[in-house]
Amino acid sequence: MKALTPKFPKMLHGGDYNPDQWLRSPEILKQDIELLKKADINSVSIGIFAWAKLEPQEGVYDFDWLEEIIDNLYKNGIYSVLATPSGAKPLWMSEKYEEIRRVSKNGVRDLSGARHNHCYTSPVYREKVQEMNHRLAERFANHPGVILWHLSNEYGGECYCPLCQAAFRDWLKAKYKTLDALNHAWWTDFWSHTYTDWEQIRAPMPHGETCVHGLTLDWKRFVTHQTLDFMKMERDTVKAVNPDIPVTANLMGFYDGLNYFKFGPELDVVSWDNYPLWHTMDNKTVAVLSGLTHDVMRSVKHENFLLMESTPSNTNWHAYCMLKRPGMHLLSSLQAVAHGSNSVQYFQFRKSRGSSEKFHGAVVDHVGNSGPYDFVKTENTRVYKDVQSVGAALRQMNEGGDVYSTEVKAQVALVYDVENRWALEGAAGPTNLDKKYVETLVRHYVPFWEKGVQVDIVDSESDISGYKLVLAPMLYMYRDGFPQKLRAFVENGGTLIGTYWSGIVDDTDLCILGGTPGGMMDVFGIWNEETDCLPEGMKNGILTGGKHYDAVDLCARIHPITAEVLGTYETDFYAGEAALTKNVYGKGEAYYIAARTGEDFLRDFYGDKMQALGITGALNTDLPEGVTAHERVGENSRIVFVENYNDTEKTVGLGREYKLYGTGQTVKSIKLPAFGVAVLSDFTKM
Ligand code: GLA
Ligand code: ZN
Repeated sequence: MKALTPKFPKMLHGGDYNPDQWLRSPEILKQDIELLKKADINSVSIGIFAWAKLEPQEGVYDFDWLEEIIDNLYKNGIYSVLATPSGAKPLWMSEKYEEIRRVSKNGVRDLSGARHNHCYTSPVYREKVQEMNHRLAERFANHPGVILWHLSNEYGGECYCPLCQAAFRDWLKAKYKTLDALNHAWWTDFWSHTYTDWEQIRAPMPHGETCVHGLTLDWKRFVTHQTLDFMKMERDTVKAVNPDIPVTANLMGFYDGLNYFKFGPELDVVSWDNYPLWHTMDNKTVAVLSGLTHDVMRSVKHENFLLMESTPSNTNWHAYCMLKRPGMHLLSSLQAVAHGSNSVQYFQFRKSRGSSEKFHGAVVDHVGNSGPYDFVKTENTRVYKDVQSVGAALRQMNEGGDVYSTEVKAQVALVYDVENRWALEGAAGPTNLDKKYVETLVRHYVPFWEKGVQVDIVDSESDISGYKLVLAPMLYMYRDGFPQKLRAFVENGGTLIGTYWSGIVDDTDLCILGGTPGGMMDVFGIWNEETDCLPEGMKNGILTGGKHYDAVDLCARIHPITAEVLGTYETDFYAGEAALTKNVYGKGEAYYIAARTGEDFLRDFYGDKMQALGITGALNTDLPEGVTAHERVGENSRIVFVENYNDTEKTVGLGREYKLYGTGQTVKSIKLPAFGVAVLSDFTKM
């Protein structure tokens, strides 16, 4: 198992620390050290938005304050995750160099302000960032306290400036070589949109071309390419000074502006920022989405990751900024660990005094330790105590030494392909409301979550050969090479699940001719002739195994070729036709679910598959509703996290004896309080 931060190979506890906002108050900085230590914080992310303090005027650098802080932290046993400050450009720079400011979709260039809005093509910005990163690395990359580079902050967004558009055209030239090839791939004969000169190609903008789906798709691919190119430039400048300090970039889960799977191979460590809507809706729903998103992030590199940001209490940007109820902070923090995180980190350590994040939850609230009453202080706040409870749990894991080197091993893979998402969501039809791709992924994930089964996420470029079960719902676009992988997977004994609206288009969003699912009709043993779209409130039904299930939204009319019909539609003109099929292909099986169903169907269907394939959860028992369990396994250990997302106490039978982590206590069943979590260890080798 690779150490994510080899210089300090421990579970990290900490988060964004912005002392640059407090340089006028040395007493606060002093207090910070005490408060960091008392919360068992062992690492902070520093300098993320500090460019204006690091280079107050063009060419005038001041790193002394930062060095003093990093030194002082290190002396106190706290390591630094050092950021490159490119996420927010200093005002003097954006005023002087217009080209570094983005042009938005409407063609208007931004004024100075906000953040995460630099042009990622601008040679001026790239040069400035390179210079800054190089100097930071020269000064700090060999500092004993610096363990990881935090590249920029939450890369994202798009720029439509002339430089980006020219780079897009170059990218297209490299991809298609000739305009003729591009015109074919984008099907531009439609509406006479044929390009006769490369210069005629512009990014899709609302007052311009938005009907050529291939263009829209390639633009999104280009945005990923160009952002990644910028990220590599940042990475290479810091690595040139000391290649041994790993780099990470904090990603944003299901954010759809970038294909994160392309980032995996370029980053040493994946990290991400998680802000679930705890308590504002049913917490099981929130937990499922949060758990799935952790899995997506882990799967970007298929190894442990870091939770780079989370809030210790509430955010200030959700519609309802609810406080975490007692227990939820520890539970949500250990949820991340259960899914493969080797850290729990926050935005942010000390709450800003002014500006737009002054009400965002933080470890240290405005109360600080400076009021007229002794008892009005940080240590007495509920949030700080919650943070201390996470600190204590992670300290215990670090003392145990075993959790860090355990990881998630999954037998089930769920296909989430970002390019498929772009193409599917960008197409007109078969519904022009929400196509519900991510919601569909969630629905297919729920039955596994409920049973405590770990799931990996794969995309079309992943290796799927090692799994027992691959779920590929709504795989509208069969990217080059992927149907072949799916075929080989089934041939070699795997079980594949496909659904309606799959295998419709190829890599360039051209419809596959000759029948769908394109190139996979023999594997699924069916022909998907057409797809019906039912308005909200209307439904069909599927009858299978004597049971009825609702079919909603999208219902495909399919015809078995070699497949066995397991379920049929109940009503409408396709009543009695196949709605669920199974095909034996090679040594494996391929199932086709022709319509969108509720969770009830998927629970029963996947329950059967898990049983047939011998896929069991972390605990081999029935878990109460709203309770799940996840395991991480290592050479000689197995750690099980049991999570109760209910606001009531639940008793969970464990089916056998476990040790409560960090204590000698042996248990066969546990009582979890509302929002309670237990960590169990098991030293029998898997
Ligand atoms: C993001 C950013 C942080 C902060 C938080 C607030 O994740 O990276 O700088 O703004 O949101 O939730
Ligand atoms: Zn630009």
